[in-house]
Amino acid sequence: MPKLEPGQWAFVTGASSGIGECFAYELAKKGVNLILLGRDPQALERVTMGVEQESKVRFETLHCDLTRELDRAVSILQEFDVDLLVNNAGIGVYGEFLAADFSRYREMIGLNIVALTELSFHAGKRMIEKGQGGIINIGSLAGFFPLSNFAVYAATKAYVYSLSLALWAEWRKHNVHVLYVAPGSTETKFFERSRNGARRPKGSPGVMKPEDVVREAILAYERNRIICIPGWRNRLLPFFGRRFFPDWMVAWFAKRYH
Ligand SMILES: NC(=O)c1ccc[n+]([C@@H]2O[C@H](COP(=O)([O-])OP(=O)(O)OC[C@H]3O[C@@H](n4cnc5c(N)ncnc54)[C@H](OP(=O)(O)O)[C@@H]3O)[C@@H](O)[C@H]2O)c1
Repeated sequence: MPKLEPGQWAFVTGASSGIGECFAYELAKKGVNLILLGRDPQALERVTMGVEQESKVRFETLHCDLTRELDRAVSILQEFDVDLLVNNAGIGVYGEFLAADFSRYREMIGLNIVALTELSFHAGKRMIEKGQGGIINIGSLAGFFPLSNFAVYAATKAYVYSLSLALWAEWRKHNVHVLYVAPGSTETKFFERSRNGARRPKGSPGVMKPEDVVREAILAYERNRIICIPGWRNRLLPFFGRRFFPDWMVAWFAKRYH
């Protein structure tokens, strides 16, 4: 069973806001020391002040753009010999496939796929040598469906889903656990950032708070679950969606509903 214990080290990417920030607070409450990675130094400082107020854990911050300075992140990851890697940093690009500048897709694939895979590779190697540890990969409900108007984002998360389950199967004999977390709509900067600053309509149903997403994810990790879909409404979507509708229909309908 994966255990989170005081004195362990966790490496959290995208810790400067949203879901990653909440991981920092929840892990600190458990006494887990933290390496917090993000791009925005001021936002990271705000998070570390919050962590300091709530707990006595040790922490390091790493200002790093994972699409440009991945090697630096890998060396810090190896230096601290981490017990838990939370691959949370991720971006989305919403809209018709040809409407965006291709550089945004390159950045998204670099972050959501390349950085996550390389960090998992190096963390997993060391954890297997130690015979313990774990990785929490933050995917999305979008990873279960082909989504028109979110085509590349959904495809990156489908990759994360597939990779996570395969690594879980490979590494379980080494006592290294891998959990795939698939949040639905969550109250963070993600919505605005993926839609060029557009605001989420007020009163959108089923939007979760990031702290609730993270509490469910940590519980699922400690219970040795392989997949965690936070929120009961969100759990219904893949359950019914995948059983009763062919993928082509989901792709077609998605254009109208998100
Ligand atoms: N919110 C949702 O509705 C939702 C739903 C499903 C899945 N998710 C997933 O949840 C994860 C966290 O997103 P969030 O909702 O918490 O959004 P968020 O508030 O926008 O946080 C994204 C985090 O990723 C970091 N990041 C972005 N680009 C980076 C880069 N190139 N290098 C390093 N860090 C980078 C950001 O750092 P800076 O702020 O410092 O730039 C920030 O800390 C993502 O993987 C997302 O796909 C979110």
